[in-house]
Amino acid sequence: MLARILKWTGIALLCLVVMFVIAYSIFTFLFNRQQNTRYAIQLREIPIPTDAVAIAAGEHLFTIKGCSDCHDKNLAGKTFLDDPLIGYFAGANLTTGKGGLRPGYSTRDWLLALRHGVSHEGKSLLLMPSYEYARLSDQDIAAIIAFCKAQPPVDRELPRTHAGPVGRVLTVLGKMPLFPAQKVDHRFRQPAVMAPAATKEYGAYLSVSCTGCHNPHLTGGESPIPGGKRVADITSRGNLGKWTESGFISTLRTGRTPEGKQLENKDMPWSMTAQYTDEELKALFRYLSSL
Ligand code: HEC
Ligand code: HEC
Repeated sequence: MLARILKWTGIALLCLVVMFVIAYSIFTFLFNRQQNTRYAIQLREIPIPTDAVAIAAGEHLFTIKGCSDCHDKNLAGKTFLDDPLIGYFAGANLTTGKGGLRPGYSTRDWLLALRHGVSHEGKSLLLMPSYEYARLSDQDIAAIIAFCKAQPPVDRELPRTHAGPVGRVLTVLGKMPLFPAQKVDHRFRQPAVMAPAATKEYGAYLSVSCTGCHNPHLTGGESPIPGGKRVADITSRGNLGKWTESGFISTLRTGRTPEGKQLENKDMPWSMTAQYTDEELKALFRYLSSL
């Protein structure tokens, strides 16, 4: 009797192991296929200015677009997630120091990364949220590149970003936005200039930075970050519908909502939204409250 139970338990365990190995191989196969996809991009080259006005505009954009959260304030890169199961993620060193951009990194490479989420080999970058920058005007994207290029070299060598076993499975299941090139409309034609104004249209342009977490319709829901906090609805159907413009502005500057709730910067990055100008926040409010 005991021998039979042991035999059947053994067989059941073996079946489980075999099924697990098969499932994992399928996930690995699907993951590698996505990772090795090559994108044929018709890149539109634009000139990059070097004047102080453009560099200052680029610095403001670098701040409000959250680049320093992943690439650090000195652009030398930083680790933002190091988990043996999900993966190791670090914004690249964007300077020309040791561990930085490869020699000869050109304007073309900058544009491929920022507007298409693609490396010079034509494959998707990992986790770099290019879909949030792909629609920026020529003037804005050129200013960001001008600012980055004007920064001094910093030596910092970080391991290359890569997904762990659970990260790969989550990616294949569509639960983690690992491959930005999949989410970009590579044929989108960006406007030459988007002049800042406290209008709904300009607010729509700015709100692309909120869609990575608040979802493309800005209605919130599950976090895109595994284990992250549930994201709020920031259309007029959420709390925002009851707020005044000044209530909205002070929320994005201090993290404290008119209901008296203190948002934590690690969930909702208000230290980033605090850097928006009044005009930009007014534009965002006009747009969001119209939804
Ligand atoms: C959520 C984190 C995150 C944010 C925000 C972010 N990046 Fe990145 N970025 C990354 C990661 C991770 C990589 C490395 C991707 C890889 O190795 O495949 C990267 C790569 C890059 C590269 C390509 C470097 C190379 O070697 O080809 C450039 C250029 C870049 N980022 C610029 C920016 C700029 C400019 C901003 C803001 C407008 C920005 N990034 C915002 C995470 C981020
Ligand atoms: C990194 C992800 C992330 C980004 C980027 C982000 N948010 Fe949030 N936001 C959150 C999360 C998560 C919450 C909910 C926090 C909580 O409930 O404590 C939130 C809450 C809010 C709230 C409070 C809503 C309420 O009902 O209390 C507002 C307003 C808001 N976000 C506006 C914005 C705007 C505007 C942008 C773009 C400029 C933006 N967020 C970008 C993650 C993000």
